[in-house]
Amino acid sequence: MQKLKKNLEAISWDEDKEIVRLLDQRDLPYKETWIEIDNYHDLAKAIKDMVLRGAPLIGISAAYGMALAAKKNEDFCVADQALRETRPTAVNLMWALDQIQAVIQGSSLDDNKTIYQKILTKAKAIHQEDLEACKKMSEIGAEYIKEKTGKKKLRIMTHCNAGALATGGYGTALGVIRKLHEEDLVEMVYSNETRPRQQGSRLTAWELAYEGIPVTMLSDNMAAHCMKHKMIDLVIVGADRITANGDAANKIGTYQVAIVAKHHDVPFFVAAPESTIDRSLASGDLIPIEQRNVSELHTINGDLVTASSGVDFFNPGFDVTPNELIEAIFTEKGIFK
Ligand code: MRU
Repeated sequence: MQKLKKNLEAISWDEDKEIVRLLDQRDLPYKETWIEIDNYHDLAKAIKDMVLRGAPLIGISAAYGMALAAKKNEDFCVADQALRETRPTAVNLMWALDQIQAVIQGSSLDDNKTIYQKILTKAKAIHQEDLEACKKMSEIGAEYIKEKTGKKKLRIMTHCNAGALATGGYGTALGVIRKLHEEDLVEMVYSNETRPRQQGSRLTAWELAYEGIPVTMLSDNMAAHCMKHKMIDLVIVGADRITANGDAANKIGTYQVAIVAKHHDVPFFVAAPESTIDRSLASGDLIPIEQRNVSELHTINGDLVTASSGVDFFNPGFDVTPNELIEAIFTEKGIFK
């Protein structure tokens, strides 16, 4: 009998120890290391250091972080602020912390143990709902793509990692791909390397291979060449923040892939949960873009030196794809065009 594979998950709540367990994504694909975290300070550091990453997962972990703060009877305002400041672009972080704040406001007369239980229950719900949202948007996205492409086998490009490793499970962009693969409609996924942190090669390629989905890795400067040679039928990516007009922030390099796709008439899609939509911002110009440590540019994984010293570096973590380059955005609630 074939052995059933374990579903990929990057975070879990340990019921016995009442702590958070995180898969250390910095170590992938070389080794699978699990880290146990019992306080929000370490959790905030883990988000900042990118032990975990991906917009929905950042939000989920921050919610668990608030549960840890409650368990240890720590100051909620300080914990909320520390978690909020970890990564500025992924709005799921602020969204999840706002949800927890609402629980705290509604529980002000309860004893600490009750507040802890309520926050933990909410954090688990945020986690579970994200998993369900991923599955729903994946169905919606796959249906749309099937309709549009006439159910042929597809060659799909993606950038960064928007998979189970970046969410409560299943994934957004990779969820749609997973769904298409279930119906035998994926010929090949082209995963852009995603310098400087290589989420595409280290995480997406690993995750797809784990799932048995055919994957070819590309470096980031190959998108135009591949599209010119008609190797790509569509592009699908995740998002860290989508503004009211449909502009979408995602990993640096996404915007140039979208421009190249437009030039070659390749449809470009975004898949993201409602928690990624920031209706308070009118356009993508207003999205705060995280500036990351420049050591990511002059080394690979902090080790191998890849650039001469004594020059300046510029390292924005995200860019914004304007809505006119996006054919459709898939969410669990439906399709935005
Ligand atoms: O810096 P990261 O690895 O957190 O960036 C992640 C991305 O850009 C993802 O594409 C995005 O968060 C969507 S995850 C479903």
